[in-house]
Amino acid sequence: AGRSLLVTAGPTFEAIDPVRGITNHSSGKMGFAIARAAAEAGATVTLVAGPVHLPTPRGVRRIDVQSARQMLDAVLPLAATHGIFVATAAVADWRPSTSTEQKIKKDGSGQAPTLTLTENPDILATVARLPEVVRPWCVGFAAESHDLVRHAREKLQRKNVPLVVGNLGPATFGRDDNTLLLVDAEGERELPTGDKLRLARALVAEIAQRMAAGA
Ligand code: CTP
Repeated sequence: AGRSLLVTAGPTFEAIDPVRGITNHSSGKMGFAIARAAAEAGATVTLVAGPVHLPTPRGVRRIDVQSARQMLDAVLPLAATHGIFVATAAVADWRPSTSTEQKIKKDGSGQAPTLTLTENPDILATVARLPEVVRPWCVGFAAESHDLVRHAREKLQRKNVPLVVGNLGPATFGRDDNTLLLVDAEGERELPTGDKLRLARALVAEIAQRMAAGA
């Protein structure tokens, strides 16, 4: 209660042309559940959402974006005014290097066009690198298909954040339940499998405890 929390959720959509793009299977459910749980706990919550079909939780301010660059542009000015940042978004790692204004048509040659990709900015790592006076307390997520602990711990160090929440991505996308693994400098702890709202409440309680302990 009394804290402010900024959360990213959902996939991003990286346009190839006006009718096509690159995206992923993230439903946004976990991020929306965290926004709801934090608002219920008394926090001021801003949710930056990629393209998802989910209702805005009560009392939450929502900003809709499409691409990773739009998500970064929305997040950066808000980061300094929020005490906590939770990055649940499944940000597309790459975008087409060029996006055409007109639909790409088949030219009759039978040759498919070649897509050249450019790496997107890392939103969480960018926020975690902000100067200490304006940097929120950062929580990352790690969606993995295997070796969850190793990859989550590697992200903790690489992105320089105090807490990473691991989950097995393909098994959880779009589902209502999930299993979360909290990974910090001290060790690992599993939150038992449950629906995403229950897990979100447990995670918000964890964050609140760390805040109270002066993290
Ligand atoms: N993240 C982000 N911006 C990106 C990529 C990831 O903010 N461009 C954040 C995610 O929201 C998540 C964390 O970083 O909190 C880890 O995301 P994940 O997709 O699991 O890892 P990547 O950094 O993309 O690494 P890899 O694809 O190699 O697993």
